[in-house]
Amino acid sequence: METILEIKNVSKAYQSANHELTVLDNINFSINKGDTVAITGPSGSGKTTLLGLCAGLDRATSGSVTLNNIALDNLNEDQRAAVRNQYVGFIFQNFQLLPTLTALENVMVPLELRGAKNIKATAMTLLDKVGLADRSHHYPVQLSGGEQQRVSLARAFSNQPALLFADEPTGNLDAETSEKVIKLLFDLNKDAGTTLVIVTHDLELAARTNRIIKIKGGIIIADESPKYV
Ligand SMILES: Nc1ncnc2c1ncn2[C@@H]1O[C@H](COP(=O)(O)OP(=O)(O)OP(=O)(O)O)[C@@H](O)[C@H]1O
Ligand SMILES: [Mg+2]
Repeated sequence: METILEIKNVSKAYQSANHELTVLDNINFSINKGDTVAITGPSGSGKTTLLGLCAGLDRATSGSVTLNNIALDNLNEDQRAAVRNQYVGFIFQNFQLLPTLTALENVMVPLELRGAKNIKATAMTLLDKVGLADRSHHYPVQLSGGEQQRVSLARAFSNQPALLFADEPTGNLDAETSEKVIKLLFDLNKDAGTTLVIVTHDLELAARTNRIIKIKGGIIIADESPKYV
């Protein structure tokens, strides 16, 4: 099995006025190419922080993150951005759509950064896949939370990432839309071999992955692959 992500002795601490808050404490795991992994744990346990470190959005206080055989620790912000644009899709818990761009334009951004061809048509196809073809010219403020989440999903898919990180991708969706989004994620895994790392409170979604990593208080308390047993 080929490793696509390796996390070694990773810790993250935030410094405040008079004390240090350790959010992640010596985390270790590696993820195989093409695998589907859920990260679960209570609110505040460090899930979003961990996902951000894995994706090279943020830097660890100590330890190393290796993505697709590239050590992220010694890269500067521009170099990490280039690695992200090439290999990583990210669905943010709070969407992070650009407010001054329409849904369509938001999906087009990663394609433009990459100098892709047929950008508009590709973005339109992706919006159609998440059921938002008719909302392509709306701005984020004109969309509901669930709709913004789906635009964020289409944007994350646009570069056909080797690794897709999703932070609560169904957190704002009704059961029916949630099912559609889950299908899109797992289809991407099956058809394109995209490795999925999904933070979720949804036990049904977690149960569909091959592996569940549970964190609590910044440490891993369980790492199970029930489907392999
Ligand atoms: N920039 C920051 N500065 C200081 N503390 C932070 C910062 N970012 C996160 N934290 C703290 O780190 C801890 C973990 O936050 P994180 O967002 O990773 O939790 P989470 O597991 O994703 O929670 P949730 O399920 O509510 O999304 C929290 O106590 C949070 O307050
Ligand atoms: Mg979170």
